[in-house]
Amino acid sequence: MKTIAITGGAGFIGSHVVRLFVKKYPNYKIVNIDNLTYAGNLANLKDVESASNYEFIKADIVDAQMMFEVFEKYKFDAVIHLAAESHVDRSISNPTEFVFTNVIGTVNLLNSAKKIWKGDFEGKLFYHVSTDEVYGSLGKEGMFTEETKYDPHSPYSASKASSDHFVRAYFDTYGLPSLISNCSNNYGSFQFPEKLIPLFINNIKKNLPLPVYGKGENIRDWLWVEDHARAIDSIFHKGKLGATYNIGGHNEWTNIDLIKVLCSILDKKLDRESGASEKLITYVKDRAGHDLRYAIDATKLQDELDWVPSLQFKEGLEKTIDWYLENENWMENITSGNYQEYYDKQYNER
Ligand code: NAD
Ligand code: DAU
Repeated sequence: MKTIAITGGAGFIGSHVVRLFVKKYPNYKIVNIDNLTYAGNLANLKDVESASNYEFIKADIVDAQMMFEVFEKYKFDAVIHLAAESHVDRSISNPTEFVFTNVIGTVNLLNSAKKIWKGDFEGKLFYHVSTDEVYGSLGKEGMFTEETKYDPHSPYSASKASSDHFVRAYFDTYGLPSLISNCSNNYGSFQFPEKLIPLFINNIKKNLPLPVYGKGENIRDWLWVEDHARAIDSIFHKGKLGATYNIGGHNEWTNIDLIKVLCSILDKKLDRESGASEKLITYVKDRAGHDLRYAIDATKLQDELDWVPSLQFKEGLEKTIDWYLENENWMENITSGNYQEYYDKQYNER
């Protein structure tokens, strides 16, 4: 029986990773450590909350003493670290929060693991989940490989880059067994509607304006969240200590093309006239420091660990849209309360 801490397990990607591990590995005890910020939601984990190999602990990774006490109590064999402040726009309006959670929180977890493992690293692992945004922005050509130099531009990506450096520093300095993966943009169920795809699905449904930053020409490389969770599973079990793995879907879209596809699928599903939802597109002021293009070269992951995405984008988008349409209550619960305040600040007062 292994005991594994998954941080940020009540968030978007974390909930998919928790679900996969709880269901696939009944001989692992999964302890979800999450502070339930605005982005954390236990409703994301309804189907596993009463599993006998699952436990939830509400705790802040920024609280060093609390983290150490939790690690002392559970004597984790491994950590999969996803907890983070994850939204670029919020990092532009409140960067310090990102330093606390993403940098100090990560260092607290590294220290707690180092303390309880006491140099006996046999069978232990600290797996840090990171982003392709640490590599900066691409021009029209090329892709991010594991060797691409770090060049973060937003406070979010700077904080994630810093946390990656700390993980590598603990590997080099103390021999703390660790791994890092850097993934491209995820989409799928349970994503907080501050991110492009769920926000736009919700606005289309409600006939609200679709706020496209700049000219909508920025490019993102989209991956279905359950394929990310599968990649994390492979890397966790078969990745080389000290290594980095890029994860991506070879699936680049300009924002405006992607938005038009969303509009056209939703026109059909909502029985609207063709072209009706596109009329909601509204070009707004660009995001400050907006990275032009991300594209991941995931050859290493494919060659070494045999991972490839399981879903084509159109199929994944259909599935995702259906999920949001069928889970209206989930969306309503999330968008009541503080969400409107965030929305007004981000879109109506900018
Ligand atoms: P999310 O914002 O949906 O979830 C983050 C979770 O972390 C929430 O449950 C939140 O409550 C928790 N959390 C935040 N601060 C905390 C704190 N101080 N203590 C304890 N818990 C805290 O994020 P996500 O999109 O699921 O991203 C998860 C991880 O994957 C992040 O590290 C992110 O950088 C990385 N990532 C995300 C994407 C993406 O497209 N969303 C792509 C690549 C990498
Ligand atoms: O690349 C991985 C990263 O992808 C993750 O590390 C981040 O946690 C995740 O949030 C995501 O970052 P992005 O900034 O790429 O995602 P977001 O959904 O915020 O925006 C996607 C694109 O859409 C981006 O070019 C900005 C644009 N956009 C976004 C919003 C919310 C708009 O045009 N309008 C919007 O309202």
